[in-house]
Amino acid sequence: MIQTMFLCIPLSVFPACRGALAVAFALALAGCGGPATPGPADEARAAQLRPHDAALAEKYERSCMVCHTQAAAQAPLTGFAPAWRPRLKQGMDTLVRHAEQGLGGMPARGLCADCTASDLRALIQFMAQ
Ligand code: HEC
Repeated sequence: MIQTMFLCIPLSVFPACRGALAVAFALALAGCGGPATPGPADEARAAQLRPHDAALAEKYERSCMVCHTQAAAQAPLTGFAPAWRPRLKQGMDTLVRHAEQGLGGMPARGLCADCTASDLRALIQFMAQ
């Protein structure tokens, strides 16, 4: 893995590189990973998407968005279907439970203390679109 990273870091000199370490990391992953690895364009798209419902969008912006728009956070990106496809196979109830309880690098309720289970479900449906 370290060797792979080392080989890929020169990719970050491309003009698309915004200089941030997170971006270099994402590029390195994009250069070397499998088809489910998001690139900078997927990250840029994730950053633009918002739920249609204003109250849900407000919850999203102050919680899920922080991690689910950054490839470096290792969270499935908003709107990046290849990352969500295998997760959706677990079924929506399992995804909601994982969001409620936390999973790996994701804290319980995805840092949204006032999200109800139905908010989480709607947020997941939005992110996995
Ligand atoms: C602090 C970062 C962080 C925040 C904030 C966050 N997530 Fe996550 N999320 C992650 C990471 C990292 C993963 C991948 C976890 C893993 O597979 O180990 C993940 C995975 C998920 C999954 C997939 C779970 C599965 O079973 O595969 C769902 C669903 C999810 N997040 C929903 C949400 C929702 C909804 C919010 C906002 C309410 C949110 N997340 C906020 C980091 C975050």
